Amino acid sequence: MCGIIGCIGYENPTNILLDALKRLEYRGYDSAGIALKNEKEIQIIKSLGKISDLEKKISEKMIINCSLGIGHTRWATHGEPSEINAHPHRVGKITLVHNGIIENASFLKEKLEKKGVLFQSNTDTEVIAALINDYYKGNMEEALQKTIKDIKGSYALAIINDDEADKLYALRCESPLILGVSDGEFFVTSDMGAIISKTNKYVLLGENEIVTLTRNGFSITKDGKKVERSVEVSELSDVDASLCGYEHYMMKEIMEEPVLVHNLIQKYKDNMDLLPDLDQYDMIHIVGCGSAYYAGMIGKNFFEEDGKRVEIDVASEYRYRNVIYDNNTLVILISQSGETADTIAAMRKAIKNKVDTLAIVNVDDSTIARECKYKILTEAGREVAVATTKAFLLQVLILSFLSYKINPDKDYLKDLKKLSQNLKVLLDKSGFYKKLADAIYHQEDVFFIGRRVDYAISLEGSLKLKEVSYIHSDAYQAGELKHGTISLIQKGTVVFAIVTDQATKDKTISNLEEVISRGAVPIYVGTDDCSYENKIIIPKINTKLQPILVVPALQMIAYYVAYKRGCNIDKPKNLAKSVTVE
Ligand code: F6R
Repeated sequence: MCGIIGCIGYENPTNILLDALKRLEYRGYDSAGIALKNEKEIQIIKSLGKISDLEKKISEKMIINCSLGIGHTRWATHGEPSEINAHPHRVGKITLVHNGIIENASFLKEKLEKKGVLFQSNTDTEVIAALINDYYKGNMEEALQKTIKDIKGSYALAIINDDEADKLYALRCESPLILGVSDGEFFVTSDMGAIISKTNKYVLLGENEIVTLTRNGFSITKDGKKVERSVEVSELSDVDASLCGYEHYMMKEIMEEPVLVHNLIQKYKDNMDLLPDLDQYDMIHIVGCGSAYYAGMIGKNFFEEDGKRVEIDVASEYRYRNVIYDNNTLVILISQSGETADTIAAMRKAIKNKVDTLAIVNVDDSTIARECKYKILTEAGREVAVATTKAFLLQVLILSFLSYKINPDKDYLKDLKKLSQNLKVLLDKSGFYKKLADAIYHQEDVFFIGRRVDYAISLEGSLKLKEVSYIHSDAYQAGELKHGTISLIQKGTVVFAIVTDQATKDKTISNLEEVISRGAVPIYVGTDDCSYENKIIIPKINTKLQPILVVPALQMIAYYVAYKRGCNIDKPKNLAKSVTVE
C-alpha cells in the first residue's frame, strides 16, 4: 500500500523513478505520479490507474532537464482514487509525496483555510504540504520541525522545495522510509527492493529525524541536533528484490490477496454491466485444470443456486468427451496462464461447436484470452510461485460477480465491502497457522472433507497441501467417506472438515464424528464456533463470498507445512507454472 521513491544525483531521474514505482506496484495502488525539479521549474505528472498509464503520459511530454525527483504510488485513504488526489501534492513552494494517515488533517485544514489556503484535493497529504509551506520562511528544517509538532498520525514524506533545486528532504514516523546511498546518487524509498538495482547500501531513519539529501551526501538531524547513522549493506539481490522481503513468492502472493481482491471489487462493484450476462444462456459448461477446475467447481455451486444448469469437467477429459452442446451454451474456460494445452483444446472444441466462450484468465494476451469471445481478467499481476494462490482467489471472486449478476442480492454488495478487510485480518494470524502446521507437518496422510461448496474448497485445500509439502492428501465428499475411504482412517489421521455450507453443516459434522470415533484428529474449518480443539473460525459472510475467506487459511497452512518440511515451496518437484503439453 502506497510507495515512495525520491532521488537526487547527476542524471535525469525519470527512469529511476519509473523503475522504482514498478517495483513498488506489488504493494497495491490506484494512482501514481512523479515530480521533477530543476533551478527554474517543477514538473508534476500524475495518472489514475497503472504505472504503464503514467509511463505513457510521461512519454508524451517534454521532460525538463533535472537531477532531482520524487514519485509515489497511492492507495486511497483520504479522498477517492483520482488524478487530483494522486501524489505528488503541491502547495506554494512545497511539493511532496506521503505514505500514512494524518489523523488531525481536518482540524489542520480548517485552520489553514482560515488563513486563506485553497485546497485542490481531498487528501490529508495536501494539508501537510500547506502546513510546511505556511511555516517555511526561508529555513526548511525549521519549517519541518514545526510541522512535525503539529501533525498526528503516521507518515513518511519526501519533500521538494522550490527554493532549493539541489536538495531533497525526507522524514518518517510509524511509516517505513529508507535512505539509499550510492556514488553521487541518493534515494529515499519505502522499500529497499525499489532501489536495489541502483544500490545495496542504505541508512535506517529514526522517527521524526529529518534527512537532507544533496548529490554530494546526506545529513540527518533531530530537534535541530545532528544525528550520526551508519551505512548498512542489504543482502537483497536484484533477482530476489521482487520478493519484497518475503522468503518465498507463495507467501508474498498470498499476502497480496487482500489488495488484489479490493482492486477487483473496486473495478466491478458499480460496473457489473462490464461483465457478460450469464442468464442469457440455458446451459453453462465450466472447464479448467487443477486449481482452475476447483475454482470452477465453486462457481458451479454458485450458479446452480441461481437456478442455472451447469456442467463441469477437467479440460483433459472435456476435450475428448462426446460433449452434447445445446444451442444456447456458454463454455467458461478458467486459466491463470491462459496457455494450458488441455484448456486451449477444450476452448477450441467449444468454438468449433459454435458456442460462446468466456475466458477467466490472468495473463492478458495469452491464447485463451485472445481466442475466447469474452474475457475477464483476474488482474492478479504476475504469479511466480508454481502453486497458484492469488489467481485462484480472484477466479472465485469473478465467478461470484457473475453469479451476483444472475441473481442480485443486496446483502452481497454489503458484504463485498468488508471482504478485503476480513481477508486481511485472517491473513494477519500467521502465527496461528504456523502453530497448526507445526502440529501436522509430520503426517503421512491428510484428508479433507466437505459437502457441496465445502467439497470444492476441500479439493483446493488438499491440492495445495500435497503439491507444496509432498504429504499425501485427498479430499472427499463428506458423505462419500463411508463408502470406502473410511478404512484408511486410523489413530492420529488428520482430517480437515470444511463446514461453511449452512444447508449441510450438521451432516458434515456427523461425518466428522464418524472419523473421530475411528481415531482421527479433527481440524475444523467453519463459520460457527465449535468445541473441537483444533479449529479455524472464519467470519460468516454472503455464501457467494464465503470461499474467498476459507481458501487463504488453507493456503497458509500448506505453506507453513511445506516450510517446516524444508520443501522447495515456490518450485515443487515435477511441477511447472504453465502446462503447455497434454
Ligand atoms: C495448482 C496449480 C495448477 C493450475 C493448473 C492450471 O496450484 O497451480 O493446478 O491451476 O495447472 O493452470 P492454469 O490456471 O494456468 O490453466
